Amino acid sequence: MFVCLGNHCRSPLAHGYFQYLLEKHGLEGEIEAASSGTSGWHIGEAPDSRICRVARRHGVGLDHIRGQKITKADLRTCDLILVMDRSNLRDVLSLDRDGRYTEKVRLLRTFDPSSVDNEIPDPYYSGIFEEVYTIVSRACDSLLEEIKSSLGAPTG
Ligand code: 4NP
Repeated sequence: MFVCLGNHCRSPLAHGYFQYLLEKHGLEGEIEAASSGTSGWHIGEAPDSRICRVARRHGVGLDHIRGQKITKADLRTCDLILVMDRSNLRDVLSLDRDGRYTEKVRLLRTFDPSSVDNEIPDPYYSGIFEEVYTIVSRACDSLLEEIKSSLGAPTG
């Protein structure tokens, strides 16, 4: 599960892009992707039209995704919770007071080989949607390679 603040820009992009990758690699029956926000501001809404436009330009559809808010149950049921920045990390970890699921919660950008600070900037006000697409897609590409090697599947 990919998590950002609004489940409106970054995490729907990661969710849709990762699904696109799973289909490309024939893994859509093996691995499930989802997304949510730490806020409930965009529950039930389609992702931001600006991120949908950028994703569509790259052949990735986000129109099926609807905003939802992360719950404690998600921490239990998901294998990996991938957050976009340290504020998301704090908010998600605050749902897990006894630290049972800390290991599952990671900054998505730690998978980006060219990352320095491991955060994915919020494009909602800055408008840097193309840059965020580049970062998210690079991080997701390398995330999938790690998952595939941990599952023992051939890479490439
Ligand atoms: P996201 O970006 O966390 O990448 O979905 C945002 C979307 C909406 C708002 C803030 C950030 N907002 O203030 O509504």
